[in-house]
Amino acid sequence: MRPVNRYPSVDYLHRAARKKLPKFSYDYVDGGSGSGVGLDRNRAALDEVTLIPRYITDWKSVEIEVELFGQKYSRPFGIAPMGLASLQHPKAELKFARAGRKANIPTSLSTACTVDIEDFGAIAAENGWFQLYPPKSEEINDDLIDRAYNSGFKALFVTVDVPARGWRPRDMYNGLALPPRITAESLLNSAIRPTWSLNTLLNGIPHFKTLGRYSDKKSMRGMAEFVGEQLGQMVTTDRLKRIRDKWKGPLIIKGVMHRDDAVKAVEMGYDGILVSNHGGRQMDAAPAPVEVLPDIVEAVGHKTTLMVDSGFSSGLDIVRGLALGAKFVFCGRAFMWGISALGERGVDHVVDLLTDELTLALTQIGCPDINELNSSWLEKT
Ligand SMILES: Cc1cc2nc3c(=O)[nH]c(=O)nc-3n(C[C@H](O)[C@H](O)[C@H](O)COP(=O)(O)O)c2cc1C
Repeated sequence: MRPVNRYPSVDYLHRAARKKLPKFSYDYVDGGSGSGVGLDRNRAALDEVTLIPRYITDWKSVEIEVELFGQKYSRPFGIAPMGLASLQHPKAELKFARAGRKANIPTSLSTACTVDIEDFGAIAAENGWFQLYPPKSEEINDDLIDRAYNSGFKALFVTVDVPARGWRPRDMYNGLALPPRITAESLLNSAIRPTWSLNTLLNGIPHFKTLGRYSDKKSMRGMAEFVGEQLGQMVTTDRLKRIRDKWKGPLIIKGVMHRDDAVKAVEMGYDGILVSNHGGRQMDAAPAPVEVLPDIVEAVGHKTTLMVDSGFSSGLDIVRGLALGAKFVFCGRAFMWGISALGERGVDHVVDLLTDELTLALTQIGCPDINELNSSWLEKT
């Protein structure tokens, strides 16, 4: 059966992933912070965005190519950075890199990744965007930036929305904290998901490969403790400025939700802003990014490249985000469900689904070029 018939939307892949993953690994991706209302709000707010179709227009094909920071991408969406991805699928990040390169979309690698930055860079080439959680140590900060640059990454995200780690009850209950209570034994205990357990054991228990190299302690627990000490604190303005001075390519702040922060990012010389609430994983009371986006567009839309993520799981969602004023959309969980359900083929399938859905949505609303999508398609409130 063709994948599109078996998995005609990301929801189908999500359900298949749930059946394949052990509970702690599924919960890690699926969960939000607190009671999860922030996560639900992301979905509800997108559903509220309605588009008014125009049918009486003359055009034949739909254009979805977008230019960002001087580079052409074949689609207006990319793969968001996600830490500990090999907990879902062995060497997941490298498979994201390959699929992202094939599809010619930006593909991000998290600081908390489970592969070497150099290995990812060799596959992703200029489709690679590195995500930096500025570590406590400035030396490590600078070395990570050098490694990303030398590995050919095109752009750098600096994530600012983790001044402290989010309170995630499902992960806490499952022992997925820093350091995690996951051992070879607990992996084997995931015996009701034997394929996952075997694959994971054969490929080695996932650990923080890129960051782990800076730790003196080489045990999994020791490395995780080290990562816990280094990450999860406020990013100071000083540090943000230093990063701007150091990184020579396109630089994007990730996790902006307030227009004042957006203005500061532009003043500091950042090239782009990713409006995001971290997929509902940080602060339960945060609004959905699509709710704050129009205000941020008004404040800085003409001065910077605005992008958005959190909750986007279909091509129609992407069209909604672009009509609200973003130039580009990132998706996280959608790709994680794809890889968890079907491996790399699943990532390709998510790319195809989002592409087909968004092409259809553009056709249905009568907008032949993604770059012409704007608020004139939105229902006025
Ligand atoms: C499993 C998982 C891990 C994540 N890890 C990171 C990370 O290491 N760094 C980061 O900046 N954002 C991280 N995020 C947030 C994503 O980059 C992105 O903002 C979010 O997933 C978008 O929402 P969505 O999953 O609803 O598409 C993570 C998200 C998920 C689901």
